[in-house]
Amino acid sequence: MDTSTAKKPTLLLSRRIPEPGFSLVREEFTVIGGEEDRPMGRAELLRGVEGVDVLLCLLTEPVDGAVMDASGGSLRVISNMAVGYDNIDVQAATERGILVTNTPGVLTDATADLAWALILSVARRVVEGDHLVRQGRFGRWSPFLLLGHAVAGATLGIVGMGRIGQAVARRSLGWDMRVLYTRKSGPLAQEQVPAGACWEYRDELDGLLSEADIVSLHVPLDSTTRHLMGSRELGLMRPGSYLVNTSRGPVVDEDALVQSLQSGHLGGAGLDVYEAEPGLAAGLTDLENVVLLPHLGSATVETRGMMSELAVRNASAAVRGEPVNVVNPEVLSRMMSA
Ligand code: GLV
Repeated sequence: MDTSTAKKPTLLLSRRIPEPGFSLVREEFTVIGGEEDRPMGRAELLRGVEGVDVLLCLLTEPVDGAVMDASGGSLRVISNMAVGYDNIDVQAATERGILVTNTPGVLTDATADLAWALILSVARRVVEGDHLVRQGRFGRWSPFLLLGHAVAGATLGIVGMGRIGQAVARRSLGWDMRVLYTRKSGPLAQEQVPAGACWEYRDELDGLLSEADIVSLHVPLDSTTRHLMGSRELGLMRPGSYLVNTSRGPVVDEDALVQSLQSGHLGGAGLDVYEAEPGLAAGLTDLENVVLLPHLGSATVETRGMMSELAVRNASAAVRGEPVNVVNPEVLSRMMSA
């Protein structure tokens, strides 16, 4: 018997992850699962988690109290390979003394880049133009063909000025934009604002919505942000303005968004995430002024590699008793006082 292997903690890998995490996880843990690139079904998850120390999962796996209990009390760490962790019932984990970790930082630039890809695509009608050319409908240049709206000099509204929101705002320096932002923890400190940037804090979402030409969402999904953008808020947006969402689908009431686009109030939308992913609200795909992506925010080879490595390192650090990137630090304080 290989005793070194026997001593490794056990980890359920809910689906295949990219390298280098895929190899690293096998060096550090006795791994169950994770061979196939498909979400692990609930029955499989309930069975697989039994007796393991760690669950390394992705946003495709909902992890609730029942999944945690199916471990029989062995589960100590849930390492999510994502920065968002709304797929995990964190309160249930905290009640059970299970640490939950995520992968912040490594996907900031990739997600900010994608938000910008959507901003430019929707404002300059890039996808409509591509379709027109492919369909052989590009006759001659015309002064009226697929006119969009200027991004340079426009006002950008960032809802949620965390890491990703700030990275989106920094990129807007190249477009000479005025930036309005909301932030749960109040205005940024002066040293967090780049020299020459015109970033203005708004303590109310309504104020931002009524002034911005482009609104980009960067809040985590929780009970306070579900349907943050409902029909009232969409109605407050400027006529002809654009909404971009690379955060989580349920932050937007998707039916209300479709209505607002159909009515011609909003100028367009760029979406990477959906309310009932991978399902789409009725009518969304009939609209020409939307750009729809299949949740690609962190989808670069470089970023997915860093996420897989960080998810494994988070799991190892937590089982060693040196946890990092913990989203429920209450568990740690309880451990300290025990
Ligand atoms: C991706 O959506 C993530 O939260 O990492």
